[in-house]
Amino acid sequence: MASNSVKTLLLSEGDLLKAGVMDMPKCVDVIEDVFRLLGEGDYLMGGPLENEHGQMIFFPKEPRFPGMPVTGPDRRFMAMIAYLGGKYNICGEKWYGSNAENHKKGLPRSVLTTILNDAETGIPFAIMSGNMISATRTGAVPGVAAKYLARSGARSVGVIGGGVINKACLLAIKTAAPSISEAYIYDISPERGREWAKDQSAALGIRIEFAGSVEAAVRPADIITIATSGASFPRIETEWLKPGCLVTFTGDADLDVEAFSNNTVIADNWKMHEAFLADGMEHPDGIEAVSVVAPSYHLLEYIAAGKYDPSGIASLGDIVCGKKKGRRGDDEIIMFLTGGMPVHDLAWGKTLYDSAVQKKLGTEFVFFEEAHWK
Ligand SMILES: NC(=O)c1ccc[n+]([C@@H]2O[C@H](COP(=O)([O-])OP(=O)(O)OC[C@H]3O[C@@H](n4cnc5c(N)ncnc54)[C@H](O)[C@@H]3O)[C@@H](O)[C@H]2O)c1
Repeated sequence: MASNSVKTLLLSEGDLLKAGVMDMPKCVDVIEDVFRLLGEGDYLMGGPLENEHGQMIFFPKEPRFPGMPVTGPDRRFMAMIAYLGGKYNICGEKWYGSNAENHKKGLPRSVLTTILNDAETGIPFAIMSGNMISATRTGAVPGVAAKYLARSGARSVGVIGGGVINKACLLAIKTAAPSISEAYIYDISPERGREWAKDQSAALGIRIEFAGSVEAAVRPADIITIATSGASFPRIETEWLKPGCLVTFTGDADLDVEAFSNNTVIADNWKMHEAFLADGMEHPDGIEAVSVVAPSYHLLEYIAAGKYDPSGIASLGDIVCGKKKGRRGDDEIIMFLTGGMPVHDLAWGKTLYDSAVQKKLGTEFVFFEEAHWK
């Protein structure tokens, strides 16, 4: 009789580095391919409208019991689930906890797990350290956006927030737009910002300077990448935006409504941002409750207040598929919102899993040899 044992491959961050998680050109290709599947509709995410970012534990403002976590900057637990079709045909989940305070303990802001399941049987065939999968797939999205939406010959990048995610964003933007030759980074912590500039300049081989203000990083930029975590959002004045620039919101920033209404807004998947809006409307504290997770939070507030009409917002998948037009002119300013989707973790995770199997990496774990009850 055939064995009914269920086994899973455990892959550590070290295994994933050997499997190629830092291969950004490949990651950008995979993420672009996922946008094509999104445009075609061959995917499902959570919730009845099939487009939820994830299911979040919203922590209360005050502890109700000793030890109960309270809300704070970038503090949340999130289960992000999806089915992805095409050549992938898998289900899976990214599950993580995030807390900006983690840095004080020498930990990254968030600690993530990626699980890949057989779509037919539910067997979790891989459980993977999710941090590097998530960081590189997150960066690859502005990379794909740069390929489709940046003006040709883009030279300068404005980096707002010198953390993990912007390392991946700048790497991917440089991969997708090789004309990039300089970057200006602003971080609220000058020490962190200067160190980031030095390290990333050495890693990417381009000039990167610490900018003394958000304005100094934004004004020269053809592409802006925003990814901060903390108690306050960076403030960007509309007039600082250079004609033709692409602003990528991987994290949110504080901009006036005119920055959106006078320019073009494109999302990774607008239906997902509508789901963020619905969550905010449902939450007792209102839309502010989704500010810890939605990089579209300020725009959603304008929409809820009736100050912005979102009906013209296109999604990148439709542009990659050729169903909608991307950039229309060299002077057009494009605001690109990317909230993060589990389909990207699944595709990049599966690509790395295949590489790990080929390279015989990881540790096999037996769930059961023969199920005790069935
Ligand atoms: N959209 C997505 O797919 C996605 C995925 C992962 C993370 N994120 C978001 O990206 C953001 C960054 O994540 P990370 O892991 O790089 O965080 P991180 O904590 O490693 O780095 C964030 C940096 O931002 C700086 N900062 C804080 N407030 C600032 C401000 N007002 N102006 C300038 N700099 C400021 C901090 O000093 C820190 O260096 C988070 O908000 C996170 O939720 C988005």
